[in-house]
Amino acid sequence: MTARHFLLDTDLTSADQAAVLDLADALKARRRTPGPADRPLTGRSVALLFEKPSTRTRISFDVGVAELGGHPVVIDATSSHIGRGETIEDTAAVLSRYVDAIVVRTFAQERLERLAAASSVPVVNALSDHAHPCQALADLQTIRERRGSLAGLTLTYLGDGNNVAHSLLLAGTLAGMRIHVASPPGYEPFEQVVRHANEIGAATGGEALVMHDALEAAADADVLYTDVWASMGQEDESDSRSLVFQPYRLDEKAVEAARPDVLVMHCLPAHRELEIASAVIDGPHSVVFDQAENRLHAQKALLSLLLTEGADGAGGPR
Ligand code: CP
Ligand code: NVA
Repeated sequence: MTARHFLLDTDLTSADQAAVLDLADALKARRRTPGPADRPLTGRSVALLFEKPSTRTRISFDVGVAELGGHPVVIDATSSHIGRGETIEDTAAVLSRYVDAIVVRTFAQERLERLAAASSVPVVNALSDHAHPCQALADLQTIRERRGSLAGLTLTYLGDGNNVAHSLLLAGTLAGMRIHVASPPGYEPFEQVVRHANEIGAATGGEALVMHDALEAAADADVLYTDVWASMGQEDESDSRSLVFQPYRLDEKAVEAARPDVLVMHCLPAHRELEIASAVIDGPHSVVFDQAENRLHAQKALLSLLLTEGADGAGGPR
């Protein structure tokens, strides 16, 4: 039997994604009054393996697994044998003997794929250099609870065409959204991801567009989104990136160019006054702390789906 993994946004179909968001809303609404059905991980354990730092992802998965009735096991790579060179395949095989799912934050997507190939339990991408699909689920939940639905909305992402941008492109088009990414030349999202997003959009009504003019991209946006200019692992490029990305700052001018009721989003952690103005992140359009909260609910819904649906069940990995 093959375990059902969530390595990339497209491991969920549009219908699966909507089901996760519906369940996330329901779990959020009854968080303080859960019934027995809200604890599907009773008697099960989930490994949370981190090869990069984390605040939100680590804590929301830890709390989320416990709220689902399960036992979270947080593993810091540097204090385990992975940090001393034990292979990812051996690690996956060993963890599979102890736990019912493995949540992993790592560097290359290929490392995640190798881990999943050697695991007999579901593997969840808790951020790789390529994608951040759990973040995108929480982001869609946040937009949907403010706007009621997702299809046809325009989300404009300003800045680096990174892991967060890739996941917004794929998850957003799965939901029928228009995802516009404005990046400096040379820092655009991968062409292959943009192409994939447009293929998805052909079926859902969504669209993926890469632009270079931030204000032009912001015009008529329902959502303005940004992320750090130098991701984890790119710290030595911070200074050069700070210069190149200046025109892509999410500031008052960008907000004024967008729709009057625009939502402002950032996955956090933020560098205030770099990629986002403090007045904007603390302003009336900002939903950044709802996003952070919804990590908990969206990930609980995702784990419920992956761990309660039969392996190879309907809507399996694509
Ligand atoms: N947004 C996000 O993934 O935050 P952490 O790096 O704190 O987990
Ligand atoms: N793009 C950022 C996201 C952090 C949540 C990074 O990878 O560091």
